[in-house]
Amino acid sequence: MSQIESLLHEDRAFPPTAEFKSAARISDPAEYAEMYRESILDPEAFWGRMARELPWMVDFDKVLDWSDAPFARWFEGGKLNASAACLDQHLEGPRAHKTAIRWEGEPGDVREFTYTELHAEVSRCANALKARGTKKGDRVAIYMPMVPELAVAVLACARIGAAHSVIFGGFSSKALRDRIQDGDCSTVICADGGWRRGKILPLKREVDAALEGIDSVHTVLVVRRTEQEVAWFKERDTWYHEALAAADAECAPEPMDSEDLLFLLYTSGSTGKPKGIMHTTGGYMVGAYLSARFVFDLREDDVYWCSADIGWITGHSYIVYGPLSNGATVVMYEGAPTTPHPGRFWEICEKHKVTVFYTAPTAIRTFMRLGEEHPEKFDLSRLRLLGSVGEAINPEAWIWYRRVIGGDRCPIVDTWWQTETGSIMITPLPGVHDTPPGSAMRPFFGVDAVILDEAGAELPANQGGLLCIKKPWPSMLRGIWGDEQRYRDTYWSEIPGVYFAGDGARRDEQGNFWIMGRVDDVINVSGHRLSTMEVESALVSHPKVCEAAVVARPDEITGQAISAFVTVGADVEVSDELRVELGEHVTQEIGKLARPREMRFTDALPKTRSGKIMRRLLRDVAAGTETSGDTSTIEDLSVLAKLRGDEI
Ligand code: WT7
Repeated sequence: MSQIESLLHEDRAFPPTAEFKSAARISDPAEYAEMYRESILDPEAFWGRMARELPWMVDFDKVLDWSDAPFARWFEGGKLNASAACLDQHLEGPRAHKTAIRWEGEPGDVREFTYTELHAEVSRCANALKARGTKKGDRVAIYMPMVPELAVAVLACARIGAAHSVIFGGFSSKALRDRIQDGDCSTVICADGGWRRGKILPLKREVDAALEGIDSVHTVLVVRRTEQEVAWFKERDTWYHEALAAADAECAPEPMDSEDLLFLLYTSGSTGKPKGIMHTTGGYMVGAYLSARFVFDLREDDVYWCSADIGWITGHSYIVYGPLSNGATVVMYEGAPTTPHPGRFWEICEKHKVTVFYTAPTAIRTFMRLGEEHPEKFDLSRLRLLGSVGEAINPEAWIWYRRVIGGDRCPIVDTWWQTETGSIMITPLPGVHDTPPGSAMRPFFGVDAVILDEAGAELPANQGGLLCIKKPWPSMLRGIWGDEQRYRDTYWSEIPGVYFAGDGARRDEQGNFWIMGRVDDVINVSGHRLSTMEVESALVSHPKVCEAAVVARPDEITGQAISAFVTVGADVEVSDELRVELGEHVTQEIGKLARPREMRFTDALPKTRSGKIMRRLLRDVAAGTETSGDTSTIEDLSVLAKLRGDEI
């Protein structure tokens, strides 16, 4: 039984305003339909043409070679440098002195780089790396706070043809060490520290600990950010500012083969050792460029802000490579969303005149909980488009986002994709689609998405099943670093010949996709397979609830029973009556079957550092068993301890 029952029903849909449509890159449904049709029926023509919008140093001979599936080769024969696509191509025309990055630190300091300035900084950094022996074909670990030098480091690696492996600055020295070793990195770029919630993260200290006993790393380049004392290893450590001051501001970009490795990015998955996801130059750049252009509808005068960290794929594709290859002005912010005050994000939107804003549902739900009075203090009238990524956004949060942040005028693009897919896969196009709250809508150009059962048969409308991709796409992962078999097993074996990366979804009768969550999380109550996302969404639609996670608990009678973990509003009192009230609410919203058997109230849910609820940890709590599996990616371990101790 692979099908997932869908109980959630949504009738609302919001069209883009006439004003939005009139200026959008694509607004004519017929034009969109024709582009999508071509991208599926004649992908070589479509991708060949789109790819040639990038500044290739040598044109490619062949669009796609899929003869060695599942190992795709895109744009073979072509040579491209990703940093040149982000920088050099803009220096000839009116973008030369346009702001590329406008950065704000957590303490409120602001720095700005024009494209010309960013090009010079990146070139200096590239020369500094070369001078220390870092070369084409190396891997470079980057472990930094969200400072401009992080983007510079990424682009400098791309410039000299060394693959970067960015490791999120919140990871421990142990996680850092594992990733440095797995990638066999020659170089580390880090900072002395970073600001987070008013405190200093001692990043250099973590690097020192991570490198103990590792001799593959010959250079550690250290950005000075927080200026605390750091230990210094003369042979290995160099200050970034000193190295760059001594370096030339011209560095010819290395001509890279289309299939040369651009970066590794580790994704943990739910179990097992982190996977080094491989992305290569040409295909990845085409995907990042094109999706940023159309999904965010980027225009010359936009000020675009994606609040993710560059340590995640979202930051790679939609802070660095996508927007910069489009010549956009990108806002970058160092700190936490609520430091020093709950309106911090909205203050940044007002101050930097942000027009396009991209964030995660977990952040949106936090802001909902904090109250509307915070965004209301700021002028958000320049916003014209909002985006969401990382998890399913429940309709309640979607509507709040649209009304309170988007002033009921901004379209919302709910974008579904993965570290592995490299760029956005399922999304509305903001000028074309009327968007129902909670749907990621349509496959992007070239994406042949289907809903299959376990035997590989396509399911009819509204039946939940496995979300699969039938055709290769340019920005798809090229493998898992050092583990070819795991790549085949993880993504291509559930249904042979088809990409499946673990999510369930349904497609409605209009062709819109609704993501239902990870299939590993599906709950089986008396033979009915229910999506966690739908039950959670029903809970969150109750006005007293801010966030909810549901998991399966073994049950003698029904096989599995639903256990709910619920966070309520700051001023809501928890009681048994509330439990009953919420249970009834779920019954009303989606049916008796989905009514949680038990419910616990909690101040916080265990999340990964990128904001995803870790349901597998909650499963152990619900079942009353020991925590099993890896907890290294959890943001705050005390949340889990609390859940185990203070049940009410
Ligand atoms: C998983 C991928 C994609 C960048 C950030 C996360 C979930 C992502 C959505 C969405 C529902 C979503 C999926 C996916 N996910 N976006 N719009 N609606 N679920 O990258 O860490 O590789 O995670 O995030 O479960 O498989 P990632």
